[in-house]
Amino acid sequence: SAPKQIALRVNGSEHQLLLSPDAPLLYALRNDLGLNGPKYGCGLGECGACTVLVDGRAARACILPVGGLGQREITTLEGLGDLAAPDPVQQAFIECQGAQCGYCLNGMIMTVRALLNRKPEADEADIRRELRGNLCRCGTHLEILASARRAVE
Ligand code: FES
Repeated sequence: SAPKQIALRVNGSEHQLLLSPDAPLLYALRNDLGLNGPKYGCGLGECGACTVLVDGRAARACILPVGGLGQREITTLEGLGDLAAPDPVQQAFIECQGAQCGYCLNGMIMTVRALLNRKPEADEADIRRELRGNLCRCGTHLEILASARRAVE
């Protein structure tokens, strides 16, 4: 549908963007706001590479229309932390070398963050269940699980 003015709350700031309400949030984040933490993988809601937090819960930005977000708070990987002050989940993935190519890591980190927001004492079974829908084509699953376990500690 036709572009219109849309307000998006991202990483603590409000942005006014001219977008079609049907446009996927992922496009707005990457193309309009220059936030390249969330990745484009499948574009179909199936791989998890594009995961962001919406009001603290994991959501797949590639299938989320910008028009439906209202005042909800969107957090991207950039909003979690940076090298100087990483989120504990980011720190754990660095320490346990959770990355091979790294393409899936945004989704892994954001999904673990969302799990810990809900359940700070998450156990191995919780972590596995939560990450089941996040695909890693390098097969770095053991390092990713180790990173997630470290994040709980
Ligand atoms: Fe969004 Fe794959 S790119 S789930």
